[in-house]
Amino acid sequence: MSEEILNNVRKNLFAIKPYQPGKPISDVKRDYGLSDVIKLGSNENPLGPSKLAQQAIAEALQGVNRYPDPGAFSLKEALSKKHGVETKQILVGNGSDDTIKLISETFLQQGAEIVVPSPSFSQYWFGAQLMDATTVAVPLTADFEYDFEAMLSAVTASTKLLYLCSPNNPTGNYIRQADLQAFLDRVPAHVLVILDEAYNEYVVENDYAQGIDFLKQGYNVIVMRTFSKMYALAGLRLGYVMGPAEVIDAINRTREPFNANLLAQTAAIAALDDADHVEASRKQNREGMQRLQAGLEKLGYQLLPSQGNFAIFNTGLDDQKLFDLLLREGVIVRSGTPLGLPGYLRVSIGLLEEVDRFLSVFEKVVSSAVRNV
Ligand SMILES: Cc1ncc(COP(=O)(O)O)c(C=O)c1O
Repeated sequence: MSEEILNNVRKNLFAIKPYQPGKPISDVKRDYGLSDVIKLGSNENPLGPSKLAQQAIAEALQGVNRYPDPGAFSLKEALSKKHGVETKQILVGNGSDDTIKLISETFLQQGAEIVVPSPSFSQYWFGAQLMDATTVAVPLTADFEYDFEAMLSAVTASTKLLYLCSPNNPTGNYIRQADLQAFLDRVPAHVLVILDEAYNEYVVENDYAQGIDFLKQGYNVIVMRTFSKMYALAGLRLGYVMGPAEVIDAINRTREPFNANLLAQTAAIAALDDADHVEASRKQNREGMQRLQAGLEKLGYQLLPSQGNFAIFNTGLDDQKLFDLLLREGVIVRSGTPLGLPGYLRVSIGLLEEVDRFLSVFEKVVSSAVRNV
């Protein structure tokens, strides 16, 4: 390998730290010689995919010798009907990770800036870094609420995109309707606001700001959704964005023609039809959340309020060490340090028996971690 080749690599790429995903179950089984591992690390839906989606996948399997519909016509029709926006206002992709990248490629270049909350989802930063743009991170307040005033102050003439995540990953807080209204009324006209609503369907609070309402009122917003969470199709990869038609048209120019695969498109259409699965998942999530909260309270810990399918709490201990000890017991969670929350753990809401297993293993490893301090 000649030195010159490496010199030709775009320098901004060297600053990209590879994304640290939740550990897969298979890795933990192999690394620790375990047979029974539970994963509460990637905010997935523990109920599994909808039966309707599974059936649709089975029927579509014989057609995978054909390319998928590059325009995702049927899926966009279904989404258009669901959300009351035109199909030309919708773009689908290989998960939200893909749509974040496409948005970044559309709007960013060297000298451009994005404003992001911190801590929040790391792929916003990745998209900016990929395009050699600058990320301006605005800390959440001490109680993990958005600091809208500080976010507005962080906007400059070079700001192209401003991300909001609601419910926010990893903190679980959400944006209220009145707060978003007041904020959007003050965002300068040159800034496109991306509302990442990956956990939208889990929200039960009535004053939650639905991004789509603001899109319909003509604000400069893009609403980002995914089938990976409530719709339980993370492994198939399907995300979509809704925005003003002209903006969607621009983003569409950066898209690979077949960026949403055939099985994903088919399964997503079926999953949208399965209202019972959504309702059951939402109910299961709230029950699991209450179980986790009550269990942690008994152990003397306080789970932060969350509208997502995950929540964080402060352990007051070395989160990386706890994470390792939990792994050894076959329980995968997320440690706070890489998420910008040292001392915290983020736990996805699993089945009730998985929540119970987390609680008992956590109790055990905490006492050994404390003994070893
Ligand atoms: C806030 C947020 N946005 C986007 C994503 C990515 O979703 P997808 O699986 O559609 O790429 C995640 C995944 O964890 C997330 O937490």
